[in-house]
Amino acid sequence: MGPTERQTQLTLSRLIPCLEVRCADEAKQYPQAWDTFLRRLRAHFPRLFTLYYRLYAGQYDFFFHLEDLVITLARMWLSRSSDLQALDGMRESDSRWFQSNRLLGGVVYVDLYAGNLRGLFGKIPYFKELGLTYLHLMPLFRVPAGENDGGYAVSSYREVNPTLGTMEELSELAYELHQNGISLVLDFIFNHTSSEHEWAVRAIAGDQDYQDYYRIFPDRTIPDQYEKSLREIFPEEHPGAFTYWPEMGQWVWTTFHSNQWDLNYANPVVFNRMVEEMLSLANRGVEVLRLDAVAFTWKQLGTVCENLPEAHVLIQAFNAAARIAAPSLLFKSEAIVHPDEVVKYISPQECQLSYNPLLMALLWNSLATREVRMLNQALRDRFKLPPGCAWVNYIRCHDDIGWTFSDEDAARLGINSYDHRRFLNEFYTGRFEGSFARGLPFQQNPLTGDARISGTCASLAGLEKALQEDTQEEVELAIKRILLIHGVILTIGGIPLIYLGDEIGILNDYSFRNDPSKVGDSRWVHRACMDWDKVADRENPHSVPGKIFQGLRRLISLRLANPVFGGSRVEVADTANQAVLGYVRILEGQNLKAERVLIFANCSEKPQVVLANQLRLYGLSYQFTNLITGKEFPLQDLLLEPYELACLRARV
Ligand code: GLC
Ligand code: GLC
Repeated sequence: MGPTERQTQLTLSRLIPCLEVRCADEAKQYPQAWDTFLRRLRAHFPRLFTLYYRLYAGQYDFFFHLEDLVITLARMWLSRSSDLQALDGMRESDSRWFQSNRLLGGVVYVDLYAGNLRGLFGKIPYFKELGLTYLHLMPLFRVPAGENDGGYAVSSYREVNPTLGTMEELSELAYELHQNGISLVLDFIFNHTSSEHEWAVRAIAGDQDYQDYYRIFPDRTIPDQYEKSLREIFPEEHPGAFTYWPEMGQWVWTTFHSNQWDLNYANPVVFNRMVEEMLSLANRGVEVLRLDAVAFTWKQLGTVCENLPEAHVLIQAFNAAARIAAPSLLFKSEAIVHPDEVVKYISPQECQLSYNPLLMALLWNSLATREVRMLNQALRDRFKLPPGCAWVNYIRCHDDIGWTFSDEDAARLGINSYDHRRFLNEFYTGRFEGSFARGLPFQQNPLTGDARISGTCASLAGLEKALQEDTQEEVELAIKRILLIHGVILTIGGIPLIYLGDEIGILNDYSFRNDPSKVGDSRWVHRACMDWDKVADRENPHSVPGKIFQGLRRLISLRLANPVFGGSRVEVADTANQAVLGYVRILEGQNLKAERVLIFANCSEKPQVVLANQLRLYGLSYQFTNLITGKEFPLQDLLLEPYELACLRARV
């Protein structure tokens, strides 16, 4: 049971006078901002209070923490720049801004892409040339030297890694990007800190208050109990979920690497301090936070400690805090878990955006099997999101590809998921006969037979093998595969996200094997340095990078020129052809006939036909224009070339 309306109002009326005292100076200095704060506090406090109560009502000093939280919100809001406060106002009245067809994402590592933050300023023209409006910079904060999980072991959320730049440069960059129509996206790595974070350092030194920031146990008794029901995430690095810390003589909860200490959100101090970290990122000009590892934040004995109800309450509480103190901030969920669980993180009150790991995995599945039935089923049953939310659709990211489709869905199609995952792993590591892919296994678990896949888009799509074997025909097919799957993410609805480098066909980079801090983690194979020579070759229509870049550029222009590709309204079209994926985009907010574009994606290297009858059924028309070729044609059987993507606008 949550607090009643009356209790909520009473609590708020007790809090406001404390706030007025504690923030008196700032309130006097910025009267308008103060009024805005109070208005938003009144509007969102009931939700925040209910959520906070659900998490922390059992604390003897609940009100103390609540008051501390609200003061933090006020202070962070009042220290927010007037530009950002203005952006907050704008976005509040245009909450659908990210549904536009103009949205296009890119993701890069600062060092691998441009050396440092300064270097990125010079890349803005290239981002604009591509049409990017959303730029995700991989973690760039201070981290332990050596192994730091590619920046995901954060030692301070307030200090940029000195090799990359400074906090001031980060703010400047955010501003500069924004001036150029690009929203800055950073990670909010809130499940854990590194073992070198000040909180962890104090915990190691024996400070009880800071030990309570983490989950630390004197011996194996409780860890053993937990581990009975836990999954192993990085079994190659350390078995189980705990690490013995000799300096403390205790066991620490470390879901990921040993130097990534899971925070203890059962402690309200941790939540309050992390809200402050979150808002300090927002105040630097970050517009979207990628919520890292959302599934793991809440732990309860006897459960898998993933996707627990409180993990959702926690994110909703962060969301409510953001609505009060940085309302333009959006969350993107990183839940690479069962599709039933992925969607539970997505709502305007939780994460407005989410990676779409299912579409990603099933696109690769379709290329391997030359069949679209799993993809079809997923689109039909699992693509629709609540209003005000959007998928972030991607081909691959900095992480491995996991085959996160649902076993039950597969079974309904007569597919044995255990065997099928084995097949996909064999296929994408190139061990399956006839495979075009060159990927590496990631975190093979000998106990369960489980594995995931590392590799760049181009290497997985066949380019590496084709270039090595010097078979021109295979090179062309690989390029077509790359363009096909990017064509799908650009037209299917939601925000497309490109891993930069893929637009010029960057290949696997095996040099990580020579670096002791990376050799144990095959994901480094697909985190190559940006190849600026290839970028320089992008206008050459005969070069491989040129073909990929220009093909992609055409698809991007298609998206930007057609508002029908914005929003998320999509219907699956039955193509009556098992190799051809079909879907219909309909202009958001319009009636069914208004504007329909039929998209067909041939996922095989053989020509395929979609019968005229299917076109009529879904196109509701007798005349079409292929937006890709510009050709007009009357209703007739549609012949698709190998890996062709056709976008047919129905003439009304
Ligand atoms: C996320 C990141 C991954 C990292 C893990 C731990 O899944 O994407 O790269 O290893 O979280 O932070
Ligand atoms: C993520 C995922 C896992 C992934 C890992 C990092 O949070 O849950 O599947 O492999 O972290 O790569």
